[in-house]
Amino acid sequence: MFYSFEQGKNIKKMKIDNQNYQSIWADENDPSVIKVIDQQKLPFFFETRELRSVEDVFNAIQDMTVRGAPLIGAAGAFGIYLATLEINLQTKIREHLSNAARYLISSRPTAINLSWAVNYVMEKLKNEQSLTSITKIALDAALEICETEKENCRQIGKYGLKLIEDISREKKGLPVNILTHCNAGWLACIDYGTVTAPVYLAHEKGIPVHVWVDETRPRNQGAMLTTYELEQNGIPCTLIPDNTGGHLMQQKLVDIVIVGSDRTTRTGDVANKIGTYLKALAAFDNKIPFYCALPSSSIDFNISDGVQEIVIEERNPEEVTHVTGFLDGKIQSVRICPDRTVAANYGFDITPARLITGLITERGICRATEKDIKEMFSYKFN
Ligand code: MRU
Repeated sequence: MFYSFEQGKNIKKMKIDNQNYQSIWADENDPSVIKVIDQQKLPFFFETRELRSVEDVFNAIQDMTVRGAPLIGAAGAFGIYLATLEINLQTKIREHLSNAARYLISSRPTAINLSWAVNYVMEKLKNEQSLTSITKIALDAALEICETEKENCRQIGKYGLKLIEDISREKKGLPVNILTHCNAGWLACIDYGTVTAPVYLAHEKGIPVHVWVDETRPRNQGAMLTTYELEQNGIPCTLIPDNTGGHLMQQKLVDIVIVGSDRTTRTGDVANKIGTYLKALAAFDNKIPFYCALPSSSIDFNISDGVQEIVIEERNPEEVTHVTGFLDGKIQSVRICPDRTVAANYGFDITPARLITGLITERGICRATEKDIKEMFSYKFN
């Protein structure tokens, strides 16, 4: 289980079948390999995949083998490391690395973590000339990003726990019902998760919790990933169709909504998986606290208006016209509408700051306002 928040560096990782995993790691036996859990196959098959090139990383991000904002950031950072391994005597090093950076960043547009992480590694390489040191610095920077994101999640867990504890006290120990959307768990975040860290921590402390998991059409990350990781870690949860949240809130069956973020503006607007906005509206109408849990790597300190300025990814309409599931021992996809139906597939939406009760970050909980975000992250503001 998850007995590690106070142990600093010797942190235990999340478990699958009782074995500890991160969702990305460098292969100890082969320095040319980065390993990931193939999230396209979960929960039906647990498989790892090897990434050996920039192209491999690009494809893994684009086809959702790896997904979730902090994880695609870490993958992008390892992508730059792999780019350094592709350098040979003929390579123009700067040009090669800049092209790799641009290419990796283009794999998915909405989550800021990807460009943030790639640019972080590139910045570290700026003044380096020797290939050996470039490679080492890139690997160290990618590993550092992983450690930082894990630590961020641990901190988010500690701050978010307080919210759950308060509700538990008010409810005199009855289970705290948390509603979440998509997967902002350890699979999305290298370890612990953002939304899930407070939940795991509460569970570890013996506070009864129960999670309502939105299925999260069209790709069903809630149904396939969030239920999977919560169940693997012993957390009671119930899968619900995406449209159920409003009803549950009216029936007072939701105590708090906690979702993740792919990009948060300096003013507190949050881009997250499509459908998050509707949950925020329902929570607002029912006076239920609505929190977004996010590390600072998910904040875009350069933009102020989420609706106007955040690019929303549009994905293959086939994800809407078809549903993927498990049948006859195989993962299969079936069409759920007439053959020629036109479908739209927007990956994310914007929840305006006014609907958000607070942001749970690694530095504490703040209101979703420019003033509060600035107080918490003054060193990031210009
Ligand atoms: O399209 P995905 O699966 O990458 O979307 C993931 C989400 O929307 C998560 O909520 C978000 O990345 C936050 S992860 C901590």
